Amino acid sequence: MSLARAYTNIALVKYWGKRDVAQMLPYNSSLSLTLDKFYTETSVEFTDQAEDQFIFEGQQQPVSAKLMRVLDDVRQLAGSQQKAQVKSHNHVPTSAGLASSASAFAALAVAASHAAGLELSRRELSILARHGSGSASRSLYGGFVLWHAGTDDQSSFAEPLSEQVDFPIAVIAVLVNQQQKSILSGAGMQAAVTSSPYYSAWVKTAEADISRMSAAIADQDIAQIGKLAETNAMRMHATTLSANPPFTYFAPETLQIWELVRQIRTKGLNCYLTLDAGPNPKLICHMQDVSKIVEILNAEIPNLTYTLCQPGPGAKLMTQ
Ligand code: PMV
Repeated sequence: MSLARAYTNIALVKYWGKRDVAQMLPYNSSLSLTLDKFYTETSVEFTDQAEDQFIFEGQQQPVSAKLMRVLDDVRQLAGSQQKAQVKSHNHVPTSAGLASSASAFAALAVAASHAAGLELSRRELSILARHGSGSASRSLYGGFVLWHAGTDDQSSFAEPLSEQVDFPIAVIAVLVNQQQKSILSGAGMQAAVTSSPYYSAWVKTAEADISRMSAAIADQDIAQIGKLAETNAMRMHATTLSANPPFTYFAPETLQIWELVRQIRTKGLNCYLTLDAGPNPKLICHMQDVSKIVEILNAEIPNLTYTLCQPGPGAKLMTQ
């Protein structure tokens, strides 16, 4: 039995749209920060049982096509026919709203390959995790991570920009809504690719954002990182509003928080918002401003649930 742990990540420059759905190749490169507060632990054992088995939080679940894809890849690489028993557990601070397929598939890639006796490099693990979920390719690494879009299966992988982050960037994950999102990220991005006239502009600006964001990280410029992340996120969301039919991941509370974030900036505090395929915003700021920002948010929206995150580590094997 092999056990692995991987942490979730927040994209500062988003992955949004597949150029090749079967190969899981994205249109644009993306850049993320791995977070320290939420992780998945997954154990894998290959046995002579008849079928693959998936147990999530102690409950048996159907084996999804994505899970099967990663297990089949591992079997192929190992030259094995054995079936897998996969057990997975999410560690989430109370109501963090941070559940993510990124940590899940990164932990699976590490545990399954080790259980099959493979010794894969981190690049190979990143490619394997990508086959389950695009954002998982980035959770192999800690700190700031760049996923190169690439042109084929072997050239589309993530690598760290800086695994050790030695400046005080903070991410406040705000929970506005715990409900399951109605349009999953895969369906949402493909709707944008096929029906938004703004999609090509998204790809062009996202690629330009990668070099700007890399420079802001090198400069340790938290305000610039936040500014670029907010602009990039809103351009991603513009492709959903401009899809046919149009849709959005914004909830009323998301817009309320965004408005507050803009007000916070008028008070001279650097605070920026990013949002993925769901209504829960993540605020990017300096560690020293966290309590002031939370105080302002709480005064406007009482009983707000939030989780303070800092840069987190890469995926690791917990068994030897
Ligand atoms: O990895 P997926 O297929 O769940 O897609 C993730 C898409 C976003 O979270 C919206 C952006 C990103 O880069 O993580």
